[in-house]
Amino acid sequence: MKFFVDTAQVDEIRELNELGLVDGVTTNPSLILKSGRDITEVTKEICDLVDGPVSAEVTATDYDGMMAEAAVLRKIAENICVKLPLTLDGLKACKALSAKDVPVNVTLCFSANQALLAAKAGATFISPFIGRLDDMAIDGMELIEEIRTIYDTYQFKTEILAASIRSVGHVKQAALIGADVATVPPGVLRALASHPLTDKGLAAFLADWEKTGQKIS
Ligand code: E4P
Repeated sequence: MKFFVDTAQVDEIRELNELGLVDGVTTNPSLILKSGRDITEVTKEICDLVDGPVSAEVTATDYDGMMAEAAVLRKIAENICVKLPLTLDGLKACKALSAKDVPVNVTLCFSANQALLAAKAGATFISPFIGRLDDMAIDGMELIEEIRTIYDTYQFKTEILAASIRSVGHVKQAALIGADVATVPPGVLRALASHPLTDKGLAAFLADWEKTGQKIS
């Protein structure tokens, strides 16, 4: 399972990338706003830091506008993945871009039928939003399971990118179901490494080591 980091904060991406935890990055207009940066500048910096795909989202809502923005975004760097909304125009743009081998992440997916359409349009990634469904008391993980079944049944190559992840539990469940990727906020990504028994066990080992008076050298 690949981990993408869901942020446009360059410092966070750099730190997590140095830890070897980053296979790619996802951004969206809200994350760009949060960064306080210019989209082209910040996206270029992120693309220079990370080897994997960096999703940058169009903001046009019509096909022609999406295609024009996609061309601008693709000029930022080789590893740009164009993020398109799951609308009819977005699907049309997905089909056109995929036919030209441009990587596409279809975002804002909330149903299995939407995911089916994205796969048929040749999407590289489909982004089902788990947390936002959970917020409405709808089981987001059930959607990941449904998409996994459909994609496996028809052998679609589109990768399931579990998005809108809010907790370490979401990551575990998405991994168990077989999501190909999880895009994870920085805090949740760091929290994956934590366990109170690890901290307790390490403290006990270090205390005993101190008592031996030895050094590894
Ligand atoms: C995915 O690519 C989106 O950027 C993201 O996961 C949305 O998450 P949110 O629901 O926490 O805003």
